[in-house]
Amino acid sequence: MLSNLKPQAPDKILMLIEEFKADTRQGKIDLGVGVYKNPEGVTPVMRAVKAAEQRIWETQVTKAYTGLAGEADYRNAMAQMVLGELPVERLASVASVGGTGAIRQALELARMGNPGLTVHVSDPTWPNHLSIMKFIGLPFVEYRYFDNATRGVDFEGMKADIAKAKAGDLVLLHGCCHNPTGANLTMDQWAEVAAILEKSGAIPLIDLAYQGFGDGLEQDAAATRLLASRLPEVLIAASCSKNFGIYRERTGILMALGTGTADRDLSQGAMAFLNRQNFSFPPDHGARIVSTILTDDALRADWAAELEEVRNTMLGLRAQLAQELRDLSGSDRFDFIAGHRGMFSRLGATPEQVARLKTDAAIYMVGDSRLNIAGLNADTVPVLARAIIDAGI
Ligand code: LMR
Repeated sequence: MLSNLKPQAPDKILMLIEEFKADTRQGKIDLGVGVYKNPEGVTPVMRAVKAAEQRIWETQVTKAYTGLAGEADYRNAMAQMVLGELPVERLASVASVGGTGAIRQALELARMGNPGLTVHVSDPTWPNHLSIMKFIGLPFVEYRYFDNATRGVDFEGMKADIAKAKAGDLVLLHGCCHNPTGANLTMDQWAEVAAILEKSGAIPLIDLAYQGFGDGLEQDAAATRLLASRLPEVLIAASCSKNFGIYRERTGILMALGTGTADRDLSQGAMAFLNRQNFSFPPDHGARIVSTILTDDALRADWAAELEEVRNTMLGLRAQLAQELRDLSGSDRFDFIAGHRGMFSRLGATPEQVARLKTDAAIYMVGDSRLNIAGLNADTVPVLARAIIDAGI
């Protein structure tokens, strides 16, 4: 049996980690996987996370199973953070194995409710979205999203394409900080998206993996809240990997908003069932860290302050890189970098140019020219800017 297995194509993002490790050149720069690094190149454990872990260690008396849906404290605190309220009549939620686990469960849930559905995804989107859908045999089509000429959103194209989604189809949207492009919709544009979905009955699946990394915790949730208030059915897959810096704890949540208590109860049952089929009980440690922080005023304030530091560090790097490139190129054609939000920006370079950055300058980014802004620091920004110009981008 095992000898019948086929070699799997490596994940493009994860492959870069290995390539980078194997590179022996001094001064190599890793702008690949989406992990925040501070100016010293470290992905730190946040202060509030350490404090919460200490508190858990001191007070936890059992590690017996949690509920199939995870702990209510965690799910309620997360719903408050994402939705700004707790719509108890409409909301079903389960803790998941990271944001990726929530995406996977959301897709399976949608197919249980509508076996004939098609998923509409942005072109481009996070490659693992596509990979999961291919693996579970869920049909998908792409909607236009990134305009390579402006490095912004092709909003007319996007609107025309998502209008083709039928009632009961899913439209996968990045709630903020679009991965991989960094190009995002304005709130007016989100309102237009809501109107299109309202008309067609297609259902948004919102991937919210970077709340707090773009314009702030509240601002980054605004689009999700708008869709939640306007549409009868909304699925939300949120991750705590980035904003709590607990990547390896695999902490996420799937939320389903329906029209009332009957939908809510059916969704809750189906989502708990999916947990049971896939992994049984969700991991608890990361969820407990998050609920400890979010339900304690002092810890929450400290966490939010550190998250702001992280966000502002990235904004500073964006401004510095745009300025360096303005100086070197004598043009404003890289100003989009300062306007993008989140961890990533897509440069709009060709695969050959991206390969040149790697071979000539030991700078690693994903082949579609997505760079992780958080992989930079004040010293490496000028190096990257020079290399971008030298690669003819
Ligand atoms: C990324 O896009 O780099 C992150 O979401 C990490 C991952 O798992 O790909």
